[in-house]
Amino acid sequence: SLPRDLTGCTLVVTAGGTREPLDPVRFLGNRSSGKQGFALARLAVQRGASVTVVAGATAELPVPAGVRVVNVTTAEQMRKAVHQLSERADIVIMAAAVADFRPVSVAESKIKKGNDEPTSIPLVKNPDILAEVVKRRDQGELPVTRVIVGFAAETGDEQGDVLTHARSKLNRKRCDLLVVNAVGEGKAFEVDSNMGWLLKADGTESALPLSSKNLMASRILDAVSSVLHTS
Ligand code: C5P
Repeated sequence: SLPRDLTGCTLVVTAGGTREPLDPVRFLGNRSSGKQGFALARLAVQRGASVTVVAGATAELPVPAGVRVVNVTTAEQMRKAVHQLSERADIVIMAAAVADFRPVSVAESKIKKGNDEPTSIPLVKNPDILAEVVKRRDQGELPVTRVIVGFAAETGDEQGDVLTHARSKLNRKRCDLLVVNAVGEGKAFEVDSNMGWLLKADGTESALPLSSKNLMASRILDAVSSVLHTS
């Protein structure tokens, strides 16, 4: 049977991809399915937590029993929901693929083809929600938040490249745990399995061997639980 080690904990998980509109019919988006985030949410409920998923665009995933879902579309909407919910969350897990950029403006009507000239789309950077949550906790604005988990999808042929990028990302974002997924051909996106590494803020690193997203969720929650019960 499952451990009930998250009993009494409130958890927020972001999942899926954000969509940044260009005009009434088009958007910039990504291939995130939301499967890893939903797997984490389902398992966390089974381990005793009270769970809200902030879901961007996902594959048509069934909502796991006992999980509350807040649907959002854009990074800005996800940001608002996460900031509000994290004020009461013991654990914040950011599994969503947030668009790094969005169009500077949204056209009111459908952008025309024009004279067959390719149109370029001016972009601005989206806020880094994960970095903002870490910063708010540092500033004392999130009194109950004890574990913040980030994800990093890294491409790279050499394991060394992937880990080097991931270590610098952990240093930059300063979350407590970073789940590193090796992405590329048949890995991580839109599939049911995942592999990678788990990096802790204290420098501890462990491999996450190729496994189902459910098993991956269980390893991630084990690590969350160990941070909770040692801090
Ligand atoms: O820098 P990178 O996009 O690889 O960081 C990935 C991590 O940061 C993920 O946990 C993702 O959910 C989060 N993120 C975010 N806001 C952004 C970009 C990424 O919360 N604008």
